[in-house]
Amino acid sequence: MKGSVFRWQLLVAAILLTFIARSESSRFHLGRSVLPSFYNLTININEERCERLSSTFHGEVAITLQTNQSNIYEIRLNMNFLNISSCLVYNKDGDLQQNVTITSLIYDRWTQQLTVPLLEPLTVNENYILYFKYTGYIRTDNTGLFFHYYEIDKYHEVYITQLEPVYARTLFPCFDEPVFQAKFQLHLGRPTGYYAVSKPRLISTTNEGNESYVDHFDVTPIMSTYQLGFLISKYQARGNRSEFAILSAPEYYNYTEFSYNVGERVIASYIELFQMPYKQLGNEVLLFAADPGSFGNAKENWGLVIFSKEVLIHKPGYTDGLKNKEFTIRNIANKIAHLWFGNRVTLAWWNYIWLNEGFPRFYEIFMTDQIYNYKYRMEEQFVVGNLQRILEKDAVATSLPLTIQEIAVQSSYVIDNETNFFPYDKGASIIRMWRSLMGSDNFNKSINSYLKQYHLKNTNPSDLFAHLKQNWPAQPEVDLDTFFSDFTEQVGYPMVIVNITQDNQKIILHQKRFLYDYKDGSDATLRYTIPITFTINLDQSYYNLTPYAYFKKNETTVEISFENPIEWIILNQKQSNYYRVFYDKPILTQIKQFFSTSRSRRIPATTKAQIIDDLFNFAYAGMIDYAEVFGFMEYLSIEMEYIPWRAAYNGMESVVRRLNPQQLTHFETYLTNITTAVFNELSAKSSSSDSVLDVYNREMHVSWLCKYQNVNCNNQVKFLFEGDIGKPSLDYRETFYCAVSRTTAHARLWHLYNNETDSDEKDLLLRAISCSRDYSTYFKLELFHVIPHYKWTNDLIQIYKHNPDLIGPIFSMISENIDEFVAR
Ligand SMILES: *[C@@H]1O[C@H](CO)[C@@H](O)[C@H](O)[C@H]1NC(C)=O
Ligand SMILES: *[C@@H]1O[C@H](CO)[C@@H](O)[C@H](O)[C@H]1NC(C)=O
Ligand SMILES: *[C@@H]1O[C@H](CO)[C@@H](O)[C@H](O)[C@H]1NC(C)=O
Ligand SMILES: *[C@@H]1O[C@H](CO)[C@@H](O)[C@H](O)[C@H]1NC(C)=O
Repeated sequence: MKGSVFRWQLLVAAILLTFIARSESSRFHLGRSVLPSFYNLTININEERCERLSSTFHGEVAITLQTNQSNIYEIRLNMNFLNISSCLVYNKDGDLQQNVTITSLIYDRWTQQLTVPLLEPLTVNENYILYFKYTGYIRTDNTGLFFHYYEIDKYHEVYITQLEPVYARTLFPCFDEPVFQAKFQLHLGRPTGYYAVSKPRLISTTNEGNESYVDHFDVTPIMSTYQLGFLISKYQARGNRSEFAILSAPEYYNYTEFSYNVGERVIASYIELFQMPYKQLGNEVLLFAADPGSFGNAKENWGLVIFSKEVLIHKPGYTDGLKNKEFTIRNIANKIAHLWFGNRVTLAWWNYIWLNEGFPRFYEIFMTDQIYNYKYRMEEQFVVGNLQRILEKDAVATSLPLTIQEIAVQSSYVIDNETNFFPYDKGASIIRMWRSLMGSDNFNKSINSYLKQYHLKNTNPSDLFAHLKQNWPAQPEVDLDTFFSDFTEQVGYPMVIVNITQDNQKIILHQKRFLYDYKDGSDATLRYTIPITFTINLDQSYYNLTPYAYFKKNETTVEISFENPIEWIILNQKQSNYYRVFYDKPILTQIKQFFSTSRSRRIPATTKAQIIDDLFNFAYAGMIDYAEVFGFMEYLSIEMEYIPWRAAYNGMESVVRRLNPQQLTHFETYLTNITTAVFNELSAKSSSSDSVLDVYNREMHVSWLCKYQNVNCNNQVKFLFEGDIGKPSLDYRETFYCAVSRTTAHARLWHLYNNETDSDEKDLLLRAISCSRDYSTYFKLELFHVIPHYKWTNDLIQIYKHNPDLIGPIFSMISENIDEFVAR
């Protein structure tokens, strides 16, 4: 997390710099005078690679291109880290027209552009072939063509490509912008024992002698350079390598069954949703490959998705828990959505990255729910896990709009750093809002017509908006252009302030941008077109997401009158829209009263989670007192559901860290009081009738309660452990062992550790052992003598993180033994 925020501030800095260099920015675009249509590309990793260290590859590329302008005396394209040894220009008849002197090539390192000077101008609308022979580097930084390795019995290498967004130019000289779409044919030279995969299918393999082979692939559909990809490995395939298959080290073959089944189910569902078999997109191959190293969860090259091994490989009893499975399903559902968003229709420029990333994040939620029958309750988890998190990031001066101005995203440096959270989680949140407002049928119709119109083309947001507009309900009235731009071109989001009149018959709404600090340099005057949805005690339309009205930007207030006095009103059911709601005290009191009755069980969990999350954030921003938040949360004493509890724990997390020992004691009592009912129901013991969220709920409660010295929790855990219930389920194991470790059963964990053979499981046990409350023994006998020192960083964190009431003595212990630490 910390790392990402840092990266993200770099981006902001980079954008500011780019603004300063505004006059320079058009230099980064190639211009449209010369257009490529076909690349015939050969990459050979055979020679010179006898060492393990990074080395070179040989490349040859013949680019078919044309111009539609006269007087074109040069061809400009991208390249980076390549050494060209030959550059030839052929005319339409295949005759050599010019052997370009290497020293006459002009390379600009800053824009990563190569200019090829021509002796004669190109003839308009005639095909030429620009040919290069060159060498490049097999990289080690997870970009371009790089390698990772794994060691099972012996050392094995895997060659992988990552060309998005600006690394195709490190593999071959090319027109490396998404709008330059062309077809590609790939020929890959590799040593014996390895094989290459790419798309579309492999058509033949030729033996080049010397134990080397070249694999020839079919011509791709028209696409952008960044979508190309290949992999060279000794992997084994589950499934059919020219249709759908999972590639992994042969030793992992048995562990890819789950991900294979997920892939098949997800593909079938998307085909039905988008009414088009993905093979008709022009590429019949879909391969998933496991990256033995790690660089993020996955990379979505068209036809060859490279996942981290956590996504594809599930070792029974060790990495096949519910959270592992949920992670796998979400990732696969996300990457397959890229076949339509990113491959079939792709962005026109990198400032629209949310068009490529927002939809897959959105569909990963909805498809998982649909395919797995709401087993994982993904939409609800999205609200607390993604939407509420992005609302935090979108309320500070470093917020970015979804659509960044094109001028700000120019140099390859900025493009590459355009990986903040907004395109993903805000993108998906805004798309979810549109779908809720227009209804899923209208939404699906719009998306399908958008995909159809821009089949194998580039788009920008207005292309999408045009299709949404066509199917948008006429009532209630709204200026859609403004509404769309408010949430895509503006930063931030509003809070709606809700007041009620004395007679309880009228509601008055105001709006204001929500910020944690109104003096942090953000524009606090921004206003938004806000869809107003609500339910009151009289109608109980808890699930109605159709807007009553839109709060227009130029209106000061919106008023809603009722014939009879109301008790309470709740806005933004299910947090389906992108804003917070600030209730005036009398309303909040009524809501709390209602939530404290069993009748409120019918209120969606996400609605409750929004109110809890909003309150914590209003307190954090200094708008209300924390006493009010903790007062409201007393209603939780009858709450059983995971989602509102998760919002509550999210909020409490940042508060409890700041409590002094005396306040901590009060907090422990408070926590015990509000959790009595839910913990009685869940208990520390797993049950065969648990739903997925029950499992998550128990894990979360045991983690908190045992940590904050809840006697019942600690006793139950110890009792269960000593009663030998067997290995706890994977989703619960670390939390359970950590809780055990704080009790007198601690010593027995060492037996488990010594008996365990799986190295990840041993690490888990060490982390759990480090939750010990007996810090003196821990330091003197365990940490210093048994735990390997390279694991200290992780394990040492555990002891103070999981024993907040002992932080004082633990740090004294560390100071007293500082010499021992230094010595080791
Ligand atoms: C691509 O180049 C190879 C030789 O390098 C040639 O055999 C092949 O026919 C070319 N493909 C196309 C479609 O021109
Ligand atoms: C995979 O499973 C099969 C059948 O159960 C078994 O024969 C084989 O040894 C397993 N392979 C590995 C690498 O575990
Ligand atoms: C409306 O509610 C806000 C927030 O509690 C409060 O500050 C304000 O005084 C209320 N306005 C009226 C007219 O009651
Ligand atoms: C460790 O393994 C031994 C031998 O297999 C077994 O007798 C013992 O019960 C095991 N201990 C634990 C704590 O599982």
